[in-house]
This record gives sequence, structure tokens and C-alpha cells, in this order.
Amino acid sequence: MYTLIDGKLVSRLLREKLKTDIETFIDSNGYAPGLAVIVVGNDPASAVYVRNKHKACCEVGIRSIQIELPEETTEKELLAKIELLNADEAIHGILVQLPLPKHINESVIINAIHPNKDVDAFHPINVGKIMLGDYQFLPCTPAGIMALLDYYEINVAGKNCVVIGRSNIVGKPMAHLLMERNGTVTVCHSKTKNIAEFTKNADIIIVAVGKAGFLTADMIREGAIVIDVGINRIDGKLCGDVDFEHVSLKTSHITPVPGGVGPMTITTLLNNTLVAAWQQHGGIS
Ligand code: GUN
Repeated sequence: MYTLIDGKLVSRLLREKLKTDIETFIDSNGYAPGLAVIVVGNDPASAVYVRNKHKACCEVGIRSIQIELPEETTEKELLAKIELLNADEAIHGILVQLPLPKHINESVIINAIHPNKDVDAFHPINVGKIMLGDYQFLPCTPAGIMALLDYYEINVAGKNCVVIGRSNIVGKPMAHLLMERNGTVTVCHSKTKNIAEFTKNADIIIVAVGKAGFLTADMIREGAIVIDVGINRIDGKLCGDVDFEHVSLKTSHITPVPGGVGPMTITTLLNNTLVAAWQQHGGIS
């Protein structure tokens, strides 16, 4: 029988501690950490994520402002908004929800966020610091997954780790964090020939491809640990990238969707916002 990796439980425990740490911050400084979340357009999935982030902030004592901009917002207008938030001393973290509408260049926007306020850790300066192992923030989803592995005392050192997906948000930083913990990491992606050849040898598999049912039971070995980053909506029901029903029976540990990685992503964001606020409490340079 497998162990269900319970992201809701681990998030609740970490957020209880965060809430106390945020009270300490407020007692010391007389104001709350502030997070601004910008969403452009009407993507329904983004609207849900942003709402969940706002709710989580309220629960732990972070002052969160939500900025909803219409689909036709220009790159220039969005840059102007970011400039204002960069200069706003009450805002310590800025998150621009991705994806952005096609007419806005994501990397231009990410580059415009002050690196000290970049609680997603997407800015090139933060990405570079992470690569060198000297960072303030880690990207939310990979860091949330590492916290889950830690909670369940899953030691990465010497393990064969397969990351499926090579996005800047999940796959690339995930591979790096596993490598930092001395895992032997293989990154598979849409051009990989015969992914099953890699996953069958894996001790830990992280799946982040955005395709429901992508990882099937015949692709894994007995006792594997499976982390499902996917959030897919099939007939109105949320499901991950893993055929949970069959894969779970072969695993030693597996995350559910929902209630696995998702809550941990938000928990890391809350933590990053507090880290950013402490870093800036004397002002931003
Ligand atoms: N879209 C999907 N995941 C994320 C995330 O972690 N941060 C941002 N900004 N956008 C996302």
C-alpha cells in the first residue's frame, strides 16, 4: 500500500508556523508583508489560482492586493503598473500571473520586476543566483515539492530522478534542486524518444507536462515515488498528469491532484513574500 503525499496537511502545518512568523514581522515593523498579484485577461484557470493565492494570504496575515487588468492591456501599460509597484514601500512581493496574453512579451515583464520583489524567482538575476546556489527565493512549485519530499523524509541523494517537462517555471528549476540534493537527474520532454525507458529506471518521477493520464502504470517500476504537478480539467473534474488509479498501486509514495503539489506552491509563495518583506524592511535599494 502506498503513502499518499498529503500537500494539504503539510501546507497547513507550514502555514501555521508562517502565521506566527508573520505576526513577529508585524510586531517588529508595525505593518504586514504586502503582495501584489497582477492578472491580465480572462483566463479562467488563472482567475482560480489568483483567488486561491489571495485567500491564502489573508489567512496567514499577508496584505494582498489583486490587480485585474483587461485582456487588451498593452505591454507599456503593464510595465507602468510594475514600475509603480516596484516603488511602493508597502508592497514587498510582485507576482504577474502567467500565461500573459500573446501580445505581451513575458520575458520583458519578468525583467521589469525588481529582483528583490520577484517572489516567483523568475527574474534572470534570481535564476542565475539559484544556479549558483546562492539565493533568497526559490520558484514556488519546485520548492514546494522539495518541502514535501523533506516532510516524508524522502532522501534524494543517489536516487535516479526523472523530471518530465522542461519549463522555466517547473522542469528546469526542479531538475536543479534535485541535483543540488545529489540526485542523478534526467530531464525528459516532448522530443524525448521512449520516455518509459527512463521512467522505468526512476526512483523519483516528477511529471509536469499538462496532459491528463500521461504517466501510466506500465511506465514505472514497483516502489517508485511519483509527484504529479499537472492540473487538468476533464469534464469539469480536476486531475493531474498521472493515471492515479493504476499508477498509485505500484508506487511507494504518490501525490494526489488536487491536494498534492498545488497547496505547496502557494505556501512557498507566502514564505517568499515574508522573506522579501524582511529583506526590504529597511527599504529597497
Ligand atoms: N502560472 C502557473 N504557475 C505560475 C506560477 O508559479 N507563477 C506565476 N506567476 N504564474 C504561474
